[in-house]
Amino acid sequence: MAEEQKSNSKKNYLSSGELRKISAHNRKIIRKYEKERERKNVKPDEYITKMRDPMNAVEFDDLHVYFFTDIGTVKAVDGVTLEIPAGKTVGIVGESGCGKSVTSLSLMQLLQRPQGQIVKGSICFNLGDKVYDIAKMPENAMRQLRGNKISMIFQEPMTSLNPVFRIGMQIDEVIELHNPEMTSDAIKSRTIEMLKTVGIADSEGVYKRYPHELSGGMRQRICIAMALACSPRLIIADEPTTALDVTIQAQILELLRELKNKINSSVILITHDLGVVAEMADYVAVMYAGRIIEKGTAAEIFSNPAHPYTIGLMKSKPVLNLNSDYENNTDRSKKRLYSIPGSVPNPVNMPNYCYFRDRCERRFDKCAAEYPTEFQLSPTHYVNCYLYCKNKDIGGIKNHE
Ligand SMILES: Nc1ncnc2c1ncn2[C@@H]1O[C@H](COP(=O)(O)OP(=O)(O)OP(=O)(O)O)[C@@H](O)[C@H]1O
Ligand code: SF4
Ligand SMILES: [Mg+2]
Repeated sequence: MAEEQKSNSKKNYLSSGELRKISAHNRKIIRKYEKERERKNVKPDEYITKMRDPMNAVEFDDLHVYFFTDIGTVKAVDGVTLEIPAGKTVGIVGESGCGKSVTSLSLMQLLQRPQGQIVKGSICFNLGDKVYDIAKMPENAMRQLRGNKISMIFQEPMTSLNPVFRIGMQIDEVIELHNPEMTSDAIKSRTIEMLKTVGIADSEGVYKRYPHELSGGMRQRICIAMALACSPRLIIADEPTTALDVTIQAQILELLRELKNKINSSVILITHDLGVVAEMADYVAVMYAGRIIEKGTAAEIFSNPAHPYTIGLMKSKPVLNLNSDYENNTDRSKKRLYSIPGSVPNPVNMPNYCYFRDRCERRFDKCAAEYPTEFQLSPTHYVNCYLYCKNKDIGGIKNHE
């Protein structure tokens, strides 16, 4: 036992020599990426591209985002391929640390640099007349899209609002930045109009107030007003209602849906809350350890989840009807909510087999093979799991039930 503990602590320990080696290696890699990013006069040909399907607003293709940290390379996003159809809402779900926020921050080019870098893949963003590969765009070109064509609503409104400036001034600034031709009166009227649109009754009064003078729900409405002020083509909402109570949450979601339809934009909705996804999303992507392990329409994912992890997520959702989702226990008071055993593998040292294998109750011999590819279950439903592989030579034999 003592021997085992000793060897475990040895495994988790990095000597100063090893740390120096990692740091030197990281510096070299980071320099290479930063040099590429800081190039001046990048020609548009390098980042103007084409969509695979022009009906999509965004296409992530084999996106890899790594953080080069002192303890090693964190593969936060490890080969994400996902489409966001124009005018639709795509929910991204998965447990904490699986790469949801990093995926969306890459789309805004807001990764924490220099450690965080897009190392492979593309993010095509469709503006109708032009398509941009955001993974290759220089910062000055990106500034034209960020906040204007793509905007983000964060979980905690105070991260987007500056506590020392009045609300009106902060929304004015966003409008002015992207519409330099507008007069200050026109900008102010647009701000007041936005405040009214997001349901702020005393919009003239709130225009002059500071963020700390508003409630959490009002602050999140302000953030939505700010995010939608320039009618973006894409809205990224990262846990937009987690900090709010359930009644305000319902109002904010309804507001988001209404405004999204009004300006006909697409939404990426990131959340832990499966109820919110069921309510809002047209499509759902389930992420696990930096990869998408299942995707499909919301109806497919909710009524016919295929991946054992997705099935586990559905079972761990609290429901009023205890019959199916709780462990079989005759005493109602003792019924427990299902929880997926184990935890996500260390992102610095991922295995080469299915990342969920060590937690999977349905694993079988073939699961020790390399990471499963994508298996198609319907024109819109895909899963990365050997249970659905029809080729007996490669993996499982089970067809989709
Ligand atoms: N700045 C950073 N430096 C190093 N690692 C990071 C950094 N930001 C994120 N990561 C790592 O990237 C992985 C994905 O993080 P991310 O924030 O995308 O998770 P998430 O799915 O949004 O989780 P949550 O639901 O808790 O918000 C995690 O392992 C995290 O530790
Ligand atoms: S591939 Fe195997 S281990 Fe991985 S989720 Fe499917 S059944 Fe489980
Ligand atoms: Mg997050």
